[in-house]
Amino acid sequence: MRFHSLLAVLAVILLCFFIKNGRGICENRNLTKACKKKSFVQLILTKNLTAFNDNRKGICRWLKELKHQSRLCKKRKGLAEIINATRDLTLNSCTHHFEYEQWPCLRLKRLFKKVYRETAFVYSLTTSAFMWLVARACAAGMLEDCACAATSGKHSTAHAHVNVTAGGWRWGGCGDNTKFARRMTYKFFQLKKRGDKTQNILKYSSEVGVKAVIRSEQKVCKCHGLSGSCTYRICFKRLQPFSVITEDLKSRYHSAERISSDNDLWRPPSQKEWREEEEVAADTLRYLDTGPNWCQFTAGRRCKDADNCATLCCGRGIRLKQTTTKEPCKCRWRNDTAYQVVCEQCDKEETVYHCQ
Ligand SMILES: *[C@@H]1O[C@H](CO)[C@@H](O)[C@H](O)[C@H]1NC(C)=O
Ligand SMILES: *[C@@H]1O[C@H](CO)[C@@H](O)[C@H](O)[C@H]1NC(C)=O
Ligand SMILES: *[C@@H]1O[C@H](CO)[C@@H](O)[C@H](O)[C@H]1NC(C)=O
Ligand SMILES: *[C@@H]1O[C@H](CO)[C@@H](O)[C@H](O)[C@H]1NC(C)=O
Ligand SMILES: *[C@@H]1O[C@H](CO)[C@@H](O)[C@H](O)[C@H]1NC(C)=O
Repeated sequence: MRFHSLLAVLAVILLCFFIKNGRGICENRNLTKACKKKSFVQLILTKNLTAFNDNRKGICRWLKELKHQSRLCKKRKGLAEIINATRDLTLNSCTHHFEYEQWPCLRLKRLFKKVYRETAFVYSLTTSAFMWLVARACAAGMLEDCACAATSGKHSTAHAHVNVTAGGWRWGGCGDNTKFARRMTYKFFQLKKRGDKTQNILKYSSEVGVKAVIRSEQKVCKCHGLSGSCTYRICFKRLQPFSVITEDLKSRYHSAERISSDNDLWRPPSQKEWREEEEVAADTLRYLDTGPNWCQFTAGRRCKDADNCATLCCGRGIRLKQTTTKEPCKCRWRNDTAYQVVCEQCDKEETVYHCQ
């Protein structure tokens, strides 16, 4: 009996040894230091930042167990604020967009034991939040050594006098710097290095996030000219609001595929510089382990409507409650003061659904 448990412990030690730098995803965290090593995503979603976040030095210090990221944090002005904001943006959009899902983006700590569907999702979401914030920060001049996206290629300033009536335009203005943000994200999340199976799948998940940001890029044009005329049009690339990216990734969370090996899942990115025109293939989130059944945690949860309750309550039935709330109604312009709207308060009957 004792011999068997000794064998088991040995096996776990060996396992930990093989998944060293195991990004904290490890069977028994007590055994080796490597097993305890957390990834940036794990740290940012589970470690309390409150005591550190009053200044940028504090935030870099908070990252100190991650040598690579903490060094980058100290080196580049503006990055600490982005790291802080990455945490808020990831957590806020995750809880907001998963409010009516079986997994409400809670119990994050248990996600890092294995590679569940949820694990793959939070990796992609955190990575895209970081990249989105970097691209925006460049355009806003809030990150050292980067600026607005360079105006490039065939539509450059040489064609300043394009015929607007014929739909002409040129690049200009200040676009979100997606190109720089992508490079920065690859560096920060160390996406170019191949690791073991677990690491590769997580890196792949991060890449799904990077691509979601690239897909959200849009051409935005502004007219310029004397007294509101559209003499010339200047266009730049702008990332769509982060909620668009979250929704994109959320649908990939729902269609995620379980796999057993990382064969060909992750290849080192090609050496050639990424081009803006490059097609961004749709991709699927992948995970390794079947996660907890979130149904056991949905009792008492509020659902949106009958359809939503059907999935959220896992067939246990619904409790309906009629409530009355006040809401503004019969709104109209007031005669005496200009541009002021007055409303009355009306009762609104509402049915509230909860899971049994
Ligand atoms: C890890 O160590 C703590 C105390 O040091 C112990 O309570 C816990 O059971 C251990 N966990 C495992 C999985 O061995
Ligand atoms: C984080 O730490 C602060 C003080 O250091 C504490 O007041 C707060 O409750 C902690 N938050 C969580 C979620 O543990
Ligand atoms: C980090 O974010 C929090 C809000 O979540 C904010 O109160 C704090 O000032 C930020 N810290 C820095 C250094 O930007
Ligand atoms: C601009 O394009 C319109 C429509 O194609 C055409 O009628 C007009 O002559 C063009 N103007 C110039 C200055 O080329
Ligand atoms: C507001 O204007 C309408 C018609 O213009 C008039 O019938 C009404 O009595 C006015 N109400 C007040 C409060 O002056």
